[in-house]
Amino acid sequence: GTAAPRLTVIGTGYLGATHAVCMAALGYEVLGVDVDPGKIELLRSGQVPFFEPGLPELLVKAQESGRLHFTTSLVEAAEFGDIHFVCVGTPQQPGSYAADLSHVEGAVTELARHLRRRALVVGKSTVPVGTAARLAELVRNTAPAGDAVELAWNPEFLREGFAVDDTLHPDRLVFGTESAWAEQQLRAAFAPVIAQGTPVVVADLPTAELVKVAANSFLATKISYINAMAEVCEATGADVHLLAEALAYDDRIGGRFLRPGLGFGGGCLPKDIRAFIHRAEELDVAQAVAFLREVDAINQRRRARTVDLVRELVGGDLAGTKVAALGAAFKPDSDDIRDAPALDVAAALHRAGALVTVYDPVAMDNARRVHPELTYGTDALQAATGADVVVLLTEWTQFREIDPEVMGAVVNRRRVVDGRHALDPAQWRAAGWEYRALGRN
Ligand code: UDX
Repeated sequence: GTAAPRLTVIGTGYLGATHAVCMAALGYEVLGVDVDPGKIELLRSGQVPFFEPGLPELLVKAQESGRLHFTTSLVEAAEFGDIHFVCVGTPQQPGSYAADLSHVEGAVTELARHLRRRALVVGKSTVPVGTAARLAELVRNTAPAGDAVELAWNPEFLREGFAVDDTLHPDRLVFGTESAWAEQQLRAAFAPVIAQGTPVVVADLPTAELVKVAANSFLATKISYINAMAEVCEATGADVHLLAEALAYDDRIGGRFLRPGLGFGGGCLPKDIRAFIHRAEELDVAQAVAFLREVDAINQRRRARTVDLVRELVGGDLAGTKVAALGAAFKPDSDDIRDAPALDVAAALHRAGALVTVYDPVAMDNARRVHPELTYGTDALQAATGADVVVLLTEWTQFREIDPEVMGAVVNRRRVVDGRHALDPAQWRAAGWEYRALGRN
């Protein structure tokens, strides 16, 4: 038909909430669904359950337009939607590299049970390659409408902190489909985005699933590559910051995701490469991605090396040393502390006997919940008051803009470890600070 499809978005975490709000902003009728009644209540009242710049404003606008609603009922969702986007999480299983697919399987099965007319179920979650084909079968077998229900895969590449812009203006759309009808449905669901000139790659289900993992593996590899060079720099007196700058002028290499430092964390990159390693083993192609183990190992070493750098700077013993840890989130403009290098380092310093005071502009509540053993400051200067060493762990703009003279006035010793290459060494040294950074003189 010519009418715009009605959309549901199942799972209202980072991905789902952003997708639901943005699709409503693009003009679609959208129903957001979550099993967590608390989350749904919050969203209904116009509040976003996590920190994401621009999203709260857009949520309220979409609700005022009357196009965006929320429910906990999959029955309601099944009746409402022509296209159902599945946006639930696939976290790493405890004690394993494998992804936990129980949420995806649960949501798809529950939804399918109520699908009584032609509909398209679209997976957006990051899953091990091969999952979509299995879910397609499951949907056909479970839905009362049978073969009239199809499954497609549409991986999502949004970055936290840029989620709205990445959703409204993606680099590309990837549609994994099993029929021309499914492709048509997806084209209708993204018509305004396609009209902007966004490239569309139409593929089979396994390719669509694989694009996401391949992209994240590449990005992780790029970061670990430059951090491996940092290790070599440290052994030779070379400077990885200048090295990265010089490499970046080569268009074939490019400077993005080539920022050396404490390495990657968050809810995606670390668990995605591990799930990929696990899946490759199952598929008997472990060798093809064996390098990803090294990518992971290099990344973990950055955290340990940062702790060592702090220890070296304070003269060898961390016991009783006052440390100001600036940053807890896995990256700036996010309150996400999943696999956050910053918190990992802060906790390791604490275990080594240091008295650690953490400050982060937005991730404090999340950090407190997971690391109640640490002390939390009220702002950067307060956290640094009396400190023997300041450690910059997440490159928030407000930390980049710290005046070394002002902070120098409150610390016990002017010593700083710049875990993110976010400060100007010349400026800090001129203010009398001992400045150290990974792979940098
Ligand atoms: C990532 C992907 O970028 C995104 O496409 C995918 O959909 C989800 O995973 P995100 O986890 O939001 O997004 O964060 P991203 O901006 O990619 O940063 C990941 C981590 O790498 C952060 O901890 C960041 O500090 C680190 N990083 C990034 C570096 O250490 N160096 C860099 O050069 C870039």
